[in-house]
This record gives sequence, C-alpha cells and structure tokens, in this order.
Amino acid sequence: MHDPDLLLQTTPSVRRRLDLERPVERDVLEECLDLAVHAPNGSNTQPYRFLFVDDADRRAALADIYRAAMADFVARPRTDAAEDNVDRSGEAQQRIARSVAHLAEHLHEVPVLCVPLVAGRTDGAGAGAHADRTSAFWQANRWGSVIPALWSFMLALRSRGLGSAWTTLTLVREREVAEVLDIPFEKWMQVGLFPIAHTIGTDFRPTPRRPAAEMMRWNAFRGD
Ligand SMILES: Cc1cc2nc3c(=O)[nH]c(=O)nc-3n(C[C@H](O)[C@H](O)[C@H](O)COP(=O)(O)O)c2cc1C
Repeated sequence: MHDPDLLLQTTPSVRRRLDLERPVERDVLEECLDLAVHAPNGSNTQPYRFLFVDDADRRAALADIYRAAMADFVARPRTDAAEDNVDRSGEAQQRIARSVAHLAEHLHEVPVLCVPLVAGRTDGAGAGAHADRTSAFWQANRWGSVIPALWSFMLALRSRGLGSAWTTLTLVREREVAEVLDIPFEKWMQVGLFPIAHTIGTDFRPTPRRPAAEMMRWNAFRGD
C-alpha cells in the first residue's frame, strides 16, 4: 500500500466491469471484512453491520428501489448547491453518466448487493438514546464509525479481484429498503448500496480529479 499507483488503480468505482456471470463466494467477503474491521471506529464499539444480499428476489427488489430512487433524484427541485449544477458536457462526466446508467440497468444481475448499516440515526427519525443526536458531532461520530471500515472493505475487495461502487441513491427510499431486508429502521441507518462482483480485468484507469493543491488551505480558511 506504499505504492501510490496501486491506490490510484484501486479507488475508481467499478460499474461496467462488474462480472455479472461469475458468482461471489461468501468466504471471500468474510475475508475482506476481517481486514476491514480493523479500521478506526468510535470508542472501538464497532457500531456497524454489513448486510450482504445474494438472494435473487431480494436483489431484484433492491434494484427496483434503486431505479425508482434514481428517478426521484433526477426529478428533484434544483437549488444553487454544487451537486444540483453538475456540468455533464465533458468527456469524463459523460463516461460517468454512462457507467451510472449501466449499473442501474443491471443492478439486479450483480451477484451480491451489500447494505452497510450504522447503529443510531442522525436524522431525528430514530428511537432510543440516539433519537435527538442530530448535531454535526453525532453525525461525524456515526458516519466516521462505519466509513473507514467500509472503504477498507472496498480496497480489500479490489486486492482480491473484486470490485464495487459507492452508491447512496437508495437512501432516498431508505424505508423501502429496510422493509425488504427486515432492518429495524429506527435503530439502524443505511450507508448506501454496494454492488459486489469479480471484476472483468484489473487494469483500471483513475477518473480525473482536481489536484490536491486546489483543495489545500494553510493556517486559515480562504477563498471557497
Ligand atoms: C457519497 C457518494 C455517493 C455516491 N452515490 C452514487 C450513486 O448513487 N450511484 C452511482 O452510480 N455512483 C455513486 N457514487 C460514485 C460517484 O459517482 C463516483 O465516485 C464519482 O463519479 C467519481 O468516479 P470514480 O469513483 O470512478 O473515481 C457515489 C459516491 C459517493 C462518494
């Protein structure tokens, strides 16, 4: 992991090169998660679960929810927020758009769908001790207690010839996903939906990004 090129090859989202024909063994997922659980998490309580779905009917139901959520998202009211004003005219953005459409179309065919969960809701819709914990502190604490493990898991997948893509669209219809998977909605918050498959080939090109220098500020925040 000291080789930066290796990291660049392993971080791109895998959508079009998920192998829809080859099954994913449960053992390899457990092996990857065994590596991932060593990630930092709040007070070392590991307040997360990784719910893997390989049942065809439930995968089909999740894929339908994903596609409906995507339609909701596309039709949302636009604001001046950056995410509402993405310029899709460039080649890189068009590649991403084609890739996103491909995943939506084939999601039910992906051998395993994973829904990671974190204990305690931060949206005020929860029950029990976490019901009122909606501040930025509690949000950072909850999300920060699952995302490092999840990212480690995704890198572990890539080290074993499997791939995934971070998706959050199903959270637009989170309660429907909870119903399909018997998740106690008031206690467990979903992080997203992660398609998992062996990859077709392993030579991945990184998506262009703005360079680090544009993102760095020193000593005090300036600009935007
Ligand atoms: C928080 C978050 C939410 C995302 N949601 C989706 C999604 O719902 N569907 C999807 O196809 N990709 C989703 N992505 C993947 C991004 O589109 C992708 O990371 C970005 O286009 C850059 O491409 P790359 O990951 O291949 O470098 C999401 C990524 C993040 C980090």
